[in-house]
Amino acid sequence: MTAQQLRQKYIDFFVSKGHRQVQSASLVPAEDPTVLFTTAGMHPLVPFLMGETHPGGKRICNYQKCVRTGDIDEVGDKTHLTFFEMLGNWSLGDYFKREAISWSFEFLTKELGIPLHMLAVTVFAGDQDASRDQESAEIWISLGVSENRIAYLPKEDNWWGPAGKTGPCGPCTEMFYWTGGGQAPDTYDPKDKRWVEIWNDVLMEFNKKDDGTFEPLKQKNVDTGMGLERTLCVLEGYDNVYETELFQPTIDRIKQLSTDHEDVNSIRIIADHVRTMTFMAGDHVAPSNVGQGYVMRRVMRRAIRHGRKIGIQEHFLAKLVEGVIDQYKVIYPELEKNREEALRNVSLEEERFSKTLEQGLREFEKVVKLMREEGREMIDGQTAFHLYDTYGFPVEMTKDLAQENQLKVDLESFQKAFEQHQELSRTASAGIFKGGLADHSDESKRLHTATHLLHTALKKVLGDQVEQRGSNITKERLRFDYTSDRKMTDEEVKKVEDLVNSAIKDEIDVYYKEMSFDEAKEAGAIGLFEHKYGDKVKVYFMGEYSTEVCGGPHVDNTRDLGGFKISKQEPCSSGVRRIKATVSANA
Ligand code: ALA
Repeated sequence: MTAQQLRQKYIDFFVSKGHRQVQSASLVPAEDPTVLFTTAGMHPLVPFLMGETHPGGKRICNYQKCVRTGDIDEVGDKTHLTFFEMLGNWSLGDYFKREAISWSFEFLTKELGIPLHMLAVTVFAGDQDASRDQESAEIWISLGVSENRIAYLPKEDNWWGPAGKTGPCGPCTEMFYWTGGGQAPDTYDPKDKRWVEIWNDVLMEFNKKDDGTFEPLKQKNVDTGMGLERTLCVLEGYDNVYETELFQPTIDRIKQLSTDHEDVNSIRIIADHVRTMTFMAGDHVAPSNVGQGYVMRRVMRRAIRHGRKIGIQEHFLAKLVEGVIDQYKVIYPELEKNREEALRNVSLEEERFSKTLEQGLREFEKVVKLMREEGREMIDGQTAFHLYDTYGFPVEMTKDLAQENQLKVDLESFQKAFEQHQELSRTASAGIFKGGLADHSDESKRLHTATHLLHTALKKVLGDQVEQRGSNITKERLRFDYTSDRKMTDEEVKKVEDLVNSAIKDEIDVYYKEMSFDEAKEAGAIGLFEHKYGDKVKVYFMGEYSTEVCGGPHVDNTRDLGGFKISKQEPCSSGVRRIKATVSANA
């Protein structure tokens, strides 16, 4: 069976039972600001589950695009995905348990032809909020399900919703398929992961209130959700969802681009994340630092990192995204409609991140080495924040990397560092240029950034004893005085120029952070600690090329410098030399 046949079979079946098909809604919920993405087919239907009249009637069905990031750490196993399609049918105050369960049973065993002995179900065990769902169990038994294939489980397993903080929810009854091969065990064991959930019928008769308590809804609803990818996988007898036609073309492309085909986990993560970013982009989400955009950035950067891991050196995401658009555009025309925008945003983000990824990974290795030496296991929040702020590592990525090195990340202190930074940025932004140059023209900003790169380059080439003694910038040139008692050789001049030019070529993003003196020293900042306000200093970061205390301003990216050249060197005073240098405007 193909994915499209399964979609169509589902819709046809429920239309034959009096349902009206509705379109898949956007992945970005229109009604619910408390949730970033549509996580289930019921999401767009919340007002109607609460009692409003749906224009399509009381019986609705569809296939719905969903994104769930809660399972992101599981992605790479056989069944978990961040994007998936949910097949669903709803009763909006119409039919209830008997019809819902009977139709699920009929669809699985008759329409899809799944033998009864491959199935098991769970029902709600009951607690202080709602009683044990004996009725559902009895319906299953009346249909032929044997009692030892029914498990009664508590709320954490058999209660679904609300999708946000409040709203419609209720006990549910879930259907599982035996994927362990051979004869399925007579007795269903909910802990045995070889039983894979494929469908969930929620008997939605409660509303969760703000205070956490439940009240009966005006109407009794049914909300069901069947995972398209999983169901297709078991029907086709595949070992995992990635073997289905939904992923194979992407996986083939990934394998063509990569050198390491053994790292199945990375390949699967990329395949999953590419599909997710494609559908996000199809609904006009673009990578950013907040909200939906941050989630998109996170999955993109994770995919890029895994790409590097399996030997993909080139920019690859846009190519894969194109493949997914072509694959799904007939079913989801918005992908085609927003193709240009999607490809533009994906390419831009990949370009952006590729620039800092390598350096960030090197920085991370340094951190690991230091921690091993010191016998530490927890990466502190400041370090995780530095990786985020300077190299664009989402903290979840730092967590992944840490895990791969048997380390942990102090997420709480990361959060604190993050909040503190935002606070400082806000307070400082008013006087952002205070400690800086007399003139804030683009030329002087470029020369100022070049001065930082030069400073570090001199230390690298001549030794750490080199100290800044003075600096002066005009529109045409920079002047830099530093401690040394001899002229640089031509070779040394060339080395210094090369270092600065490679920083320019590497197109490093320039960031600054406010921090305490101690933190600045710990971050390895050089420079004159004179640009301080209160007990804080501003530290400018230019990847691995420069970390320096300074008031700013600087260019946003070293690429703006174009090219760097030392035009003159001369003695200045005893033990102090002077350099003049220029940058060419960016080509
Ligand atoms: N809303 C239910 C679920 O997502 C059907 O499992």
